Amino acid sequence: MADLLITHIKGLVQVRESTPAPVGGSAMAELPVLSDAFLAVEAGRIKAFGPMHELPSSLKARETVMATGRFVFPGFVDSHTHLVFAAFREEEFVMKIKGATYAEIAAKGGGILNSAAKLRAMPEEELLQRSLVRAREILSTGTTAVEIKSGYGLTTEDELKMLRVARRIGKETPLTVKTTFLGAHAVPKGHTKESYLRLVLEEMIPAVAAEKLADYIDVFCEEGFFSVDDTLRIAEAGKKYGMRPRIHANQLHRSGGVQAGVKSGAISVDHLENIGEEEIEILRGTATMPTALPGAAFFLNLPMPPARQMLAAGLPLAIASDYNPGSSPSGNMPLMISLACIRMRLTPEEAINAATLNTAYALDLLGDLGSITMGKRANLFITKPIPSVAYVPYAYGSSLVDTVIVDGRIQS
Ligand code: NIG
Ligand code: FE
Repeated sequence: MADLLITHIKGLVQVRESTPAPVGGSAMAELPVLSDAFLAVEAGRIKAFGPMHELPSSLKARETVMATGRFVFPGFVDSHTHLVFAAFREEEFVMKIKGATYAEIAAKGGGILNSAAKLRAMPEEELLQRSLVRAREILSTGTTAVEIKSGYGLTTEDELKMLRVARRIGKETPLTVKTTFLGAHAVPKGHTKESYLRLVLEEMIPAVAAEKLADYIDVFCEEGFFSVDDTLRIAEAGKKYGMRPRIHANQLHRSGGVQAGVKSGAISVDHLENIGEEEIEILRGTATMPTALPGAAFFLNLPMPPARQMLAAGLPLAIASDYNPGSSPSGNMPLMISLACIRMRLTPEEAINAATLNTAYALDLLGDLGSITMGKRANLFITKPIPSVAYVPYAYGSSLVDTVIVDGRIQS
């Protein structure tokens, strides 16, 4: 007996025979959709699916949902967020409207240091409660797995506090959470870069590892923040403790971040607003997933990564939200897909592959999530009645995610 049966699905999106590899180049344009379909869940996993005319009459379920006119998608995997933070920064948004740049605001002690001051002053419990609001919000827009970074603590104690909160979000919500230690996000007041690097390398990384608080390690590799050399040192130190690197690369400048990421065997390099032929060539044939964060590029009025060039070169591409108070105050993955289509000229099929299969790869979750595949976890969402898959990115700003399902359980 199945636990849940969804019938009359207008389109079952992202059906793959077996646990697939991430997709790149021209394969990104292919998004398999099964029309007039059913899907059955047992013990939290996908037990069966197929066209309605093949639904076995013997298949009985405890609960049946009719999805007439609706599409079923695998839950989004958001592979880059900073969703644990104390407060939004809409005052800086207004400064930017009036002409200040992100770098100017950061240099005046705004930006990341502003968030760090607020986070340090906030007890762990309150930080958790505030972050849970955002976690539940992204769940309601179809995200079922998310990566969360530290990087607003910038002291050992506060970095640990952030990562504990991130881990607790994974326990207190249905979200699957992967955590990343981003101590090297900015140099805090009272430190030189060298003294802070020493703290990260000698104290923070061992402390994070001792409590098993981080799955990955990240560095903001950027002019005025951390250099290629710093990035390589930190990445190597993290690897010794089992934290694979994922790197903030080429957001504001052509900083060498992509090269550093590939050299250190990073699972992803993220941002990529400032890359060209050289970086594209370096990424070819590697296991490093190039990841665009279209919300951040949109919010900061930066150029978008050259997605069409990347795909033409055969690269895969992932899309994540970068949900954070400074450069992307939204974790809404349907909106990120719209931005990718409108501003990066991805087709809806490419954008959906980028936000499911390829982000699942970037979080080592491809065995369980990212596609509708027999035996994978039943993390899905059912849309409102819509005409087509393309309607999802087309109708930007509309909330088209109706019912979210995690491990076969319908979320209220
Ligand atoms: O990914 N670029 C560095 N980190 C974040 C922004 C952090 C902030 O402004 O608070 C990002 O865009
Ligand atoms: Fe980021």
